[in-house]
Amino acid sequence: RKLLNFSYSFSSDSFYPISGTASPPSDDGSSPKILLERPFVYFGKTYDNIYVNNNGHLTFNASYDSYSPQRFPLYGSRDLIAPFWTDLDNRRSGSVLYNQYTNGSVLQQATRDINSYFPNLSFSADLVFVATWYEVAYLSMTGTKTTFQAVLISGGQKSFVLFNYGSIASATQSVQAGYDTINSIHHFTIPGSFSSSATGNNSTFSLSSNVNVTGRWAFQVDSGPEGSLYPMDGTASSRSDDGSSPQIHLQRPFAYFGKTYNSIYVLSTHLLMCIYEPAGWI
Ligand SMILES: *[C@@H]1O[C@H](CO)[C@@H](O)[C@H](O)[C@H]1NC(C)=O
Ligand SMILES: *[C@@H]1O[C@H](CO)[C@@H](O)[C@H](O)[C@H]1NC(C)=O
Ligand SMILES: *[C@@H]1O[C@H](CO)[C@@H](O)[C@H](O)[C@H]1NC(C)=O
Ligand SMILES: *[C@@H]1O[C@H](CO)[C@@H](O)[C@H](O)[C@H]1NC(C)=O
Ligand SMILES: *[C@@H]1O[C@H](CO)[C@@H](O)[C@H](O)[C@H]1NC(C)=O
Ligand SMILES: *[C@@H]1O[C@H](CO)[C@@H](O)[C@H](O)[C@H]1NC(C)=O
Repeated sequence: RKLLNFSYSFSSDSFYPISGTASPPSDDGSSPKILLERPFVYFGKTYDNIYVNNNGHLTFNASYDSYSPQRFPLYGSRDLIAPFWTDLDNRRSGSVLYNQYTNGSVLQQATRDINSYFPNLSFSADLVFVATWYEVAYLSMTGTKTTFQAVLISGGQKSFVLFNYGSIASATQSVQAGYDTINSIHHFTIPGSFSSSATGNNSTFSLSSNVNVTGRWAFQVDSGPEGSLYPMDGTASSRSDDGSSPQIHLQRPFAYFGKTYNSIYVLSTHLLMCIYEPAGWI
């Protein structure tokens, strides 16, 4: 396998440098295993390697060839970072590039960006991993050019992912943008995924943001079950489809928007739990 080094200049300010090693041209292929120069914590799991998959996603520990986007939550068996999951083909045109930085101006840029989007964390980046799909064609749509980027930023136990969207060619195929985890304990879908506004000159991904930078989305991705959940113990509800716990008497009253409740039910639907108060119950 011959891996080539590339460097492009690109007009969009929000992109990190488009440079590095190019993945081999291959339909539904991926980069080889890339060893990360610093560990990357993804929702409680610590990874030392990553794969940049041609169809617009990244995975850890193993490559993933799926060209057919699926909705999150997938309740699957892999951690998946998907800036633009759709059927892409880097044999026709474009390059899938990756690079990583442990010092220098790219690290400083990442430190600035994260401290600006997530204030008061006193964050300091020690690894920036950049994957860019540069002017890559959709499968069977020779001549289309789509550019986007995923930037993984790590510093100690904290980690973040940025997605940057550039020019997105128009297509009829679906796109999923977001991230998912093993069993979907954490997942996020960027609005517009699977809609007709996902692609084209006015792609909703290129025009929107959750951090007030057009075409950029930013996520903190370190917090795992250990960090963010309260203790998982107690009484288990009996197994049943669409069932619920028995009535649970609260040891202190709970005020909910002007009503005071002394008991609660916990309902189960698939893996989701929700809280339900029977109307009028005091
Ligand atoms: C990833 O691979 C490492 C090393 O083989 C292993 O310890 C870890 O459990 C794997 N993680 C997942 C989520 O499979
Ligand atoms: C930055 O890190 C690279 C390896 O990742 C190294 O070759 C280079 O010398 C380092 N530069 C500085 C200024 O530390
Ligand atoms: C950050 O800290 C400063 C000073 O401690 C405080 O005034 C500010 O509200 C904090 N910002 C956030 C978003 O918590
Ligand atoms: C999209 O924009 C490109 C240049 O930015 C232009 O050449 C093309 O005609 C546009 N496509 C549509 C459908 O407007
Ligand atoms: C994109 O939006 C602009 C302004 O709203 C509009 O003029 C243009 O026709 C749109 N282009 C496409 C390809 O929908
Ligand atoms: C969003 O960005 C614009 C331009 O960069 C700036 O003028 C505006 O104050 C920002 N809005 C917020 C809520 O930060």
